[in-house]
Amino acid sequence: MATANRGQWSGKTAFILAAAGSAIGLGNIWRFPYTAGENGGGAFVLIYLGFVFLVGIPVVLAELSIGRKTEKNPVGAFKALVPKSLWPYLGGLGVATGFAILSFYAVLAGWTLSYLYGAVVGIYGGPMTGAESQDLFVHLIGDPTLTISLTAVFLLLTVLIVRKGVSGGIELATKILMPMLFVILVILAVRSVTLPGGLEGLEYLFKPDFSKIDGGVIMSALGQALFSLSLGMGAMITYGSYFPKNENIFQAGIAVALFDTGIAILAGLIIFPALFSVGVAPDSGPGLVFVVLPSIFGSLPAGQFFAVAFYALLSIAALTSTISLLEVVVSYFVDEKGWTREKAAWILGATCFFFGIPSALSNGGAEMFTTNFLGTGLSFLDLNNVIWGNFSLTIGALLLCIFVGWKWGIPAAFESLESSGHKLPGSKLLGILIKFVCPIAVGIVLVYIVATQQYF
Ligand code: TRP
Repeated sequence: MATANRGQWSGKTAFILAAAGSAIGLGNIWRFPYTAGENGGGAFVLIYLGFVFLVGIPVVLAELSIGRKTEKNPVGAFKALVPKSLWPYLGGLGVATGFAILSFYAVLAGWTLSYLYGAVVGIYGGPMTGAESQDLFVHLIGDPTLTISLTAVFLLLTVLIVRKGVSGGIELATKILMPMLFVILVILAVRSVTLPGGLEGLEYLFKPDFSKIDGGVIMSALGQALFSLSLGMGAMITYGSYFPKNENIFQAGIAVALFDTGIAILAGLIIFPALFSVGVAPDSGPGLVFVVLPSIFGSLPAGQFFAVAFYALLSIAALTSTISLLEVVVSYFVDEKGWTREKAAWILGATCFFFGIPSALSNGGAEMFTTNFLGTGLSFLDLNNVIWGNFSLTIGALLLCIFVGWKWGIPAAFESLESSGHKLPGSKLLGILIKFVCPIAVGIVLVYIVATQQYF
């Protein structure tokens, strides 16, 4: 009965779209380009891709195996597999991380809404210099009333969908809109690559300069791989728990990872050529995408149409990601605390808004959150992005691999993945990755970062 109440995806394609919807979001289009730009380009991209395949895909499958077996939220899942142990606290860390990421992610998603509005009223259809675009951006993100209101609007949209449950709201939003986003991205990439000076951007993105690599770059690449795939906090445990029993979950997991990575690279193909073409510095930080994009729209025929379509789809991509963040927290309160879905969605959404306010004030809205928060040299928002988006996910992924590899056991995980009757291809390799390669690689990165204190 529990299953019937919790809901289920209508099939494999629906799951792929929903999980891809979770994975594809601002992480690909906002976070990937600016992080690659701050960390020197090609070498970062190469390390990021390495982590996607060596750590990301194994962790996707590890999370899905737990979700499918237990049909539970992250805390309940560990309670079911290893009751009376400390493991459920790992699930708890995941739920807390989801909440924390949502609190700043919703702020950025709010910026997207504002750009959508700007596009609709025709601000981004004509030519715009880098400096003009920068001005607009700084003005927008520094306006406290606007950023706080847009954060609220975005969380409200998220709550309205999550309260309806998995198949009602989430599936519908992704089925048509994700493919549309892809088409628009391809068009923008073609435009950007053919801009004067665009090839320089491609070189920056793909030609590794290994002298740029240090601990911080490696940590950022690992954090980005996990963040982009929605890993390390139980989102895929939760989504896997709704997976129909008779479908091939392995194929679905791989498809999601490949889609997500493809979209990130596509975003890179849009941003980097354009950035060199208009003369914006690659390491301009979190505002990069917002500042660079208007210049591409200005150079396109029917620029306003593309601007509207792009910001609308980006808002929706962000929405399918905030849905997954809130869904993890909601499923915990529904399964473990007996709340109704409706109550959990509203209360948690409202609480998250409250915690998001300092992030909304982090770019000029309030001085204390904007510069050098707690002496870290970062704003409140950027600091949260590093703590939860890099460190917490990395620690979560490390412990998850240790759990699946050494506590629960690879055979049990594989039995769960194969329970539909589809055999796992390359299962030996996958076992080695989960048991040895992932924990060792992730462990080394963490120890190195702490030892050298290159946290950011
Ligand atoms: N992966 C999403 C993005 O790239 C963000 C996201 C959604 C996420 N759910 C998550 C990140 C869970 C980490 C964990 O935009």
